[in-house]
Parts: sequence; structure tokens; C-alpha cells
Amino acid sequence: MASSQKGRAMEISISQGFLVFLFSWVFLLGYAEKGPMPQGTSEDVNELVLLEDVNATDAFIKAAEVVVVGFFQDSELPEASEFLTMVQSVQDVPFGFCTSSSVLSYYNVTVNTVSLFRVVDNKRQDLEIRNSKEIDATKLRRFVRINELRWVTEYNSLTAVGLFSSMVETHLLLFTDKSSPNHTERMDKYREAAQLFQGKILFILVDSRAKANDRVLSYFHLKKSQLPAVAVYHTPDEEQDVLPLGEVSVEALKDFCNRFLQRKHVKDNHKLEDKVFKQEL
Ligand SMILES: *[C@@H]1O[C@H](CO)[C@@H](O)[C@H](O)[C@H]1NC(C)=O
Ligand SMILES: *[C@@H]1O[C@H](CO)[C@@H](O)[C@H](O)[C@H]1NC(C)=O
Ligand SMILES: *[C@@H]1O[C@H](CO)[C@@H](O)[C@H](O)[C@H]1NC(C)=O
Repeated sequence: MASSQKGRAMEISISQGFLVFLFSWVFLLGYAEKGPMPQGTSEDVNELVLLEDVNATDAFIKAAEVVVVGFFQDSELPEASEFLTMVQSVQDVPFGFCTSSSVLSYYNVTVNTVSLFRVVDNKRQDLEIRNSKEIDATKLRRFVRINELRWVTEYNSLTAVGLFSSMVETHLLLFTDKSSPNHTERMDKYREAAQLFQGKILFILVDSRAKANDRVLSYFHLKKSQLPAVAVYHTPDEEQDVLPLGEVSVEALKDFCNRFLQRKHVKDNHKLEDKVFKQEL
């Protein structure tokens, strides 16, 4: 009895030692990659938080636009170490690590799972790991990169996959040059407007400097001389509208989006009426 308890205590201390080792390793790598951090700018530092109870986990999830939590039954599983390896290669997402059985059960986790929580469409996206041989740090990183939709999501080949799998089917794209001196100001306004349309429209940034984005621009028949411009797009029927902007303003974005949603609403109602009418016939 006493010896089995001792064995268990040792097991725990070994696994915690393992975690501490990994945490410091993750921190060191993150640090080395970026060089010395000036005091007070913790924004870019890789965050990895050990989550031990439901309250802490809940607070952690609510504290950012996108967070990722690794829920593992045991910290020594190979998938847990792949998760920790992945964490050090992704700088801009807060990561939590949880092995508490009560927290796992609160979040309905029954198999080892990496969960991404995002605020923009209030979605929890789960990657359930049923076979540890099928998962590695590269696949986990891809999962995060695809699903990390934010108030404003920058368009690229990975986020495109996530955007099209969201339940929110109306997308607004802002075509703008990220190197413009007005970029920060534009983004502040764009983000402000995005929050007015939570759950209704996903706001996307398309950097007009990136060659790969030329075909998106030409899809909407836009020329670089017309930028900045916005395009709204409804994925199921590809209905769209375009508006070149002299400069980005919250009012202009609001009007444009509301008009499009209104028009869709009227159309959908007509379709519904037609359907009911046909059924009545
Ligand atoms: C969790 O939060 C609730 C309310 O916010 C509080 O009543 C409770 O004591 C907290 N539990 C722990 C373990 O901190
Ligand atoms: C767990 O599942 C139950 C039943 O489906 C659900 O009501 C609850 O909200 C879930 N918990 C979390 C944290 O998602
Ligand atoms: C930046 O914005 C100001 C005012 O909003 C405008 O006058 C100026 O032309 C803009 N600059 C660029 C490069 O678009």
C-alpha cells in the first residue's frame, strides 16, 4: 500500500518534471527565435499555460480571440509531446495544456483532443486524436493555422479552408496594401466594424501586395488602382457586391454590409414564399 503510493507520487513528480522541462524548452526556443524581448512587450511571447481547474480554463478561453487547449489524459503521451513541440512554432496564439480529469470531463473530452476556441463565430473546433501515430507537430500546426479565424482574418491558402468551413456564409474582403502608411488605421476601423457583424459576416483582409492574391482581386473584377476596396460574398450562391473605398470608414462598411444582408434577406423570403406557394398549389 505504502509502496504503491510512493510509486504514484514518484510518477507524478516525474511527469511534472517532464512538463517543466518541456515548458522551459518551449520558452527558450521561443526566446532564442525572437532575440531579447524589451520589457513590457509580452505580446509576441509564446504563451503556454498549465490549466488545472475549470475556472482557470474558462478564464483562459475567454481572454483572447483565438486560444488553443491541449486536453490530454496523460502528459507523457506522444501526442502531448507533439503538441508541446508545435506550440513553440506558433507565436501568436495563446496555448493551454490540461491533464485534469475534472476539466476534461467538464469540456466533454473523452479522447485526447486539441481544441481551438474562437470568438468571431463563437466556435469550438476539436481535433480528436484517436491514434497517436497519425498525428505530429506539423499536422497540429496545420489544424491551428486553418482554424484560427479572428475578428479580421488574413486570407491565405490555410485560412481559406477555415473560412469556407465556418457556419457564417457571408464574407467581407478588404483589399488593401499592408505596407500603406494608413494600414494600422484601416485595420482599427475594419476590426471595429467586424464586431458589429459577429456571427453574420466574417471579415477578411486580402493583402494586395501578395502575388497569390491577384486572382482573388480579378475574381471580383477589381483593379489595384481602385484599392482600398471591399467585396462582399455569399458562399452558397456566390452572390457578390463590390465597393471601392476612398478610405476605410466604419460607417461605409456598416452601410455596405447592412444593404447586402437586407437584400439577401428579401430574396430568401421571396424564395421561401415561392416554395410555400408551389407547395400550396
Ligand atoms: C469558480 O468560480 C466561481 C464563480 O465565478 C466561484 O464561486 C468558485 O468558488 C470558483 N471555484 C474555484 C475552484 O476557484
Ligand atoms: C458538454 O455537453 C453537454 C451536453 O451535450 C452540453 O450541455 C455542455 O454545454 C457541454 N459542455 C461544454 C463545456 O461544452
Ligand atoms: C491616408 O489617409 C488620409 C486621410 O484619411 C488620406 O488623406 C491619405 O491620402 C491616405 N494615404 C494613403 C496612402 O492612402
